[in-house]
Amino acid sequence: MEKFIIRGGNRLYGRVRIKGAKNSVLPLLAGALLTDEKVTLHDCPDISDVRYMLEILKSLGVSVGRTGDDISVWGGVRNGNIPEALAKEIRSSVFLMGSLVGKHGRARVAYPGGCDIGLRPIDVHVKALRELNINIDEQSGYINCSSDEIRGADVQLDKISVGATENAIMAAVLAKGRTTIRNAAKEPEIADLADMLNKMGAKIRGAGGAVVTIDGVESLSGCEHTPIPDRIVAGTLMTAVGMTGGEIELENVVPEHLSAISSKLVESACKVRAFCDRITVSGNGKSKAVDIETSPYPAFPTDMQAQLMALDAVSEGTGIIVENIFETRFKHVPDLRRMGADITVRGDVAVVRGVEKLYGAEVCASDLRGGSALVLAGLRAEGTTVVGGVKHIDRGYEKLDEILSLLGAEIQRKNMNE
Ligand code: EPZ
Repeated sequence: MEKFIIRGGNRLYGRVRIKGAKNSVLPLLAGALLTDEKVTLHDCPDISDVRYMLEILKSLGVSVGRTGDDISVWGGVRNGNIPEALAKEIRSSVFLMGSLVGKHGRARVAYPGGCDIGLRPIDVHVKALRELNINIDEQSGYINCSSDEIRGADVQLDKISVGATENAIMAAVLAKGRTTIRNAAKEPEIADLADMLNKMGAKIRGAGGAVVTIDGVESLSGCEHTPIPDRIVAGTLMTAVGMTGGEIELENVVPEHLSAISSKLVESACKVRAFCDRITVSGNGKSKAVDIETSPYPAFPTDMQAQLMALDAVSEGTGIIVENIFETRFKHVPDLRRMGADITVRGDVAVVRGVEKLYGAEVCASDLRGGSALVLAGLRAEGTTVVGGVKHIDRGYEKLDEILSLLGAEIQRKNMNE
């Protein structure tokens, strides 16, 4: 099992270029299945969630190629069954429902199930697809989708859901007639998906807003597309500077996508200066605790909650953190406590009383973003922190240890079986 060994106390300085967003690349790969022609995505991070998604596409008979950060998929699907073992590895297989049934009239995906941050049901996905005249039955751990003719409809999403919005869009682009999706999620990754599908010939309007309109077309063609930069990777590195002090410049960002994160970091500790596609963050290692309420975009993102909790843990004062999106997204709290943090959890509220110091300890990541928070805590802690469960972190951060080392952190990846 690989672990990160971190000696805290170093400030961070330097420049990092942010690559394409994990939460764009995954739905974009699903959207690419809406044509048999070649779709090439540039600037894709080499992370395990993307690798699993490519394995799933290959299991469907799709041709897949990767050259550096460019990924190409072509040739179309030869069978619509996703192997259960693969589908359970990542939730994003659920995104394939919309594109597979949209293109082929049928799809069979393993029920993605929950994970460490919550139950993560798919009732909103299922209701939306049924409204598009898609039959769905869930049996023995699989979801079977089929339709003789997908028909455009007025789809009201009962809950704001990124994945359900993306699935409904992908199921509707080749449907007969017009689809209107109301109460759509507004995350930038959704507009990114619509941008790529429109390049392929789809007719989608309003993506990124609460009402998305799709006029069905006969077919889609191939394209090339560069995903938007990963706002959560950027936000994680910005928060790292808030904790350690120093100054870093992030290249290839969309400052607007970071505004909720930047505003909290400015309130707490940092100087943030945004330019067209770059952002500079600096701090002196002293911070004030801030209150966080996670909500759908453009409000503060749930994927940054754990990282800001780590910052609050070493800040002056007390921060109240309310997690409104996922039921159990405080799995990082016990490990932060082991490092000396003073955190009390009651339901979906965490009260974080800042302490002078954190102390290095043996901790273990149980999910992607909670794991990144433990790394940030280790960068600040006195002594050595050993972070286990690195495989969770590698799902969404490409070589996080190498990036932080280049910025001056003392961190190394060790295979503990050696
Ligand atoms: C996407 O997950 C992201 N993943 C998540 O990022 C992110 O945390 C989440 O959106 C919220 O922003 C990808 O894009 C691959 P949701 P998704 O459907 O689509 C409930 C990361 O760390 N819900 O917007 O699965 C759900 O349980 C990951 O990069 C239903 O009840 O999230 C949650 O409480 C973690 N029924 C809330 O809605 C449904 O049918 C929001 O979930 C669907 C969702």
